[in-house]
Amino acid sequence: MSQIELYDAIFRRKSVRKYAPGELESGLMTKVVSNLTSLRPLFPEIRTELRIMTNTDVRGMFKVDAPHFLAFFSEVKDGHAANAGFMMQQMDLFLSANGIGSCWQGGPKPIREVRGVSELEFVTMLAIGPPAGDPHRSIAEFKREPLAKISDVTGSDELLEPARLAPSAMNNQPWFFTGGDGTIHVSTARSMIVDRMNQISAGIALCHLWLAATHSGKSVSFRSDLSAQANPPKKYSYVSSLVVG
Ligand SMILES: Cc1cc2nc3c(=O)[nH]c(=O)nc-3n(C[C@H](O)[C@H](O)[C@H](O)COP(=O)(O)O)c2cc1C
Repeated sequence: MSQIELYDAIFRRKSVRKYAPGELESGLMTKVVSNLTSLRPLFPEIRTELRIMTNTDVRGMFKVDAPHFLAFFSEVKDGHAANAGFMMQQMDLFLSANGIGSCWQGGPKPIREVRGVSELEFVTMLAIGPPAGDPHRSIAEFKREPLAKISDVTGSDELLEPARLAPSAMNNQPWFFTGGDGTIHVSTARSMIVDRMNQISAGIALCHLWLAATHSGKSVSFRSDLSAQANPPKKYSYVSSLVVG
């Protein structure tokens, strides 16, 4: 699937919590599985593994009743949760672009009996299945904060607007964007309780930023900016910076 199709899905996707009876049709599941190897990492040095699971393999709060789940396992290193958000959001958009229902699952976990399928640590998962209704929506139906509340960058709205529309745990939109002149620094709200979830959500916003920058035809890279890292907005922690050429 092209990056343009993923970019277009940003403006139509939604969390699907009601699924039609039965499993995903086998041709579609084959497409899903083959897409797993095309995901780009945010931090390529972090080892990761993705596993498809069944409904009975998964348990926990706020679980949706989907036939399949995609579980993300990772080495635990600085940035691993943001890396999970960045990679899994490419899947979320891929699923939406293919008319497949999906929903991020921060509460549920693989049951003990299947957690050992990977030697890496379980981080997060997506529910997947045939949607019971329309898996898409119009821009007017997104419930998000205005750009002015989540950014002090001027002149990069074409990149920040897609990031603004990103999904986040409990829709808390924990990100803040700073910088300018071709560099956007991404920070996320610090929290005693949902810090890891906020890191994942920041990775999701970075995925939307990256797709928007690529869509603009410019060269794009990520880097750790030492100055931005040392001076994040108050009560936020720095995650990564996107450099648009
Ligand atoms: C990291 C993360 C964890 C989430 N966990 C759950 C969950 O456990 N159960 C659920 O129903 N929705 C979950 N969501 C979905 C959010 O509630 C949803 O993305 C948000 O309300 C915005 O709605 P939208 O996805 O339709 O744009 C999660 C989303 C993210 C990004």
